[in-house]
Amino acid sequence: MPKCIIDGREVEFTPGQNLIEVAKSAGIEIPLFCYHPGLSVVAQCRMCAVEIEKFPKLQTACSTPAVDGMVVKTQSEKVKQNQKSVMEFLLINHPLDCPICDKSGECDLQDQSYGYGDAYMRTSEERRTYVDLDMGPVIQKNMNRCIHCTRCIRFGDEIAGIREMVAIQRGNNTEITTIDGRPLETDYAGNYSDICPTGSLTLKDFRFKKRAWFLKKTATTCEGCSRGCAMEMQHEANMIYRCIARENQAVNKYWICDEGRFNYHYVQESDRVTEPAMQSSGSLQMSVWKDSVVHARNALQGRKVAILIGSDLTLEEAKLIQQFVPGKFPGAPIFHFGTPGIVSSKDDDAADALLKRKSKTSNLHGMEKLGIAGFSGLPLGIDAVLVFRGGRAELPKLAGVRVVGVGVFKRPDAEKFEAVLPGTAFTEKDGTIVNFMGMEQRLKRAIVPPRECKSVSEILMMWANL
Ligand code: SF4
Ligand code: SF4
Ligand code: FES
Repeated sequence: MPKCIIDGREVEFTPGQNLIEVAKSAGIEIPLFCYHPGLSVVAQCRMCAVEIEKFPKLQTACSTPAVDGMVVKTQSEKVKQNQKSVMEFLLINHPLDCPICDKSGECDLQDQSYGYGDAYMRTSEERRTYVDLDMGPVIQKNMNRCIHCTRCIRFGDEIAGIREMVAIQRGNNTEITTIDGRPLETDYAGNYSDICPTGSLTLKDFRFKKRAWFLKKTATTCEGCSRGCAMEMQHEANMIYRCIARENQAVNKYWICDEGRFNYHYVQESDRVTEPAMQSSGSLQMSVWKDSVVHARNALQGRKVAILIGSDLTLEEAKLIQQFVPGKFPGAPIFHFGTPGIVSSKDDDAADALLKRKSKTSNLHGMEKLGIAGFSGLPLGIDAVLVFRGGRAELPKLAGVRVVGVGVFKRPDAEKFEAVLPGTAFTEKDGTIVNFMGMEQRLKRAIVPPRECKSVSEILMMWANL
């Protein structure tokens, strides 16, 4: 493997890697703003400039590929002076409103100002200000904070496949905006906030809800479709506040769609049934666990029962159900369900040119791996259904049969059920799902289940021991 010398250390690299990536692999940080590994390289901000032996001027590390034998200095006086100058330049127009900025605590501009900037500025001119246009429901724009790194413009062009962010005017008057001031159209708008290195583009959904440094982070997988993008749940005091993309080069690279990003909200909504409940006096009433499980069992006793398993359940949960059913419901057929019109993996396909899939549940392919057939209608003679659901699978219409639900349901959908035994959502459990490529991925528990909710294994154990 070729090698170069960075700050006196010999570092191996793969041909084609730029100096930022090579330095990172050796634990050496080169400050940057405009570079993002998932976007084209434009070398605009000049923050990453380094000294290279035999080069008369500083070179931008993002646009310079490493060469065998190259000698690079990232901390020489010349480099440090450049970093101070770039910071001074970028802050000429920055409003310095960190205390009231929602990016504070995770802002590249703030961090690099502390790390590489100077304590003094030479300007005393008034800063430019903008009136911000509404960019739609996902992103809040604050142009005063923008440093013109153009990451957002490149994301729209190169990843989302829609040229909607542009730079207008020139020089001190440059403004990053949408074409004709229109709201954003992409289904991937949340990524604008993830990649903006300042508080210029923030998530409306998250703004001022929680300071970034209070958040705990759990690396998990999206349940929004059969791709299974890598994501990070950010939470505090058993409440999820935000979900962001996590890098997985094989599945989603650096991105997630808005549907997946905001999907977790249902977990915390007030219409979720979080206590065991059963029919009493003509309506679904809260009860205690023992009575609800007995009621559920009695409601199905002596009937011809079919079992429906949401393809939003994990492999472990589905396997447990497969083992439980023959003992309690001998001969009962088992089907998986999840997305209208998607019965098997043959029906699953790309829903757009980037990430989204047609199957709106994460484990359709896992269900097939367990040999469970897709639901396309109840067999003749069935007069009762036991439904297991993780929270995302869309319940088929079940007219004229008794229904008992185990898992995540909400009112009013569950009002007509004989009983609801509340289970855990994807944020509240560990488990395995299989994406459309056949890759096994992990769900990780970020928060504990609310109120009385229990895992499928706990519920089946209670039922088995009646
Ligand atoms: S809005 Fe953010 S991402 Fe876009 S150019 Fe400005 S600083 Fe960069
Ligand atoms: S593409 Fe699918 S798996 Fe990825 S974030 Fe969107 S809904 Fe989730
Ligand atoms: S990160 Fe290299 S010039 Fe901006």
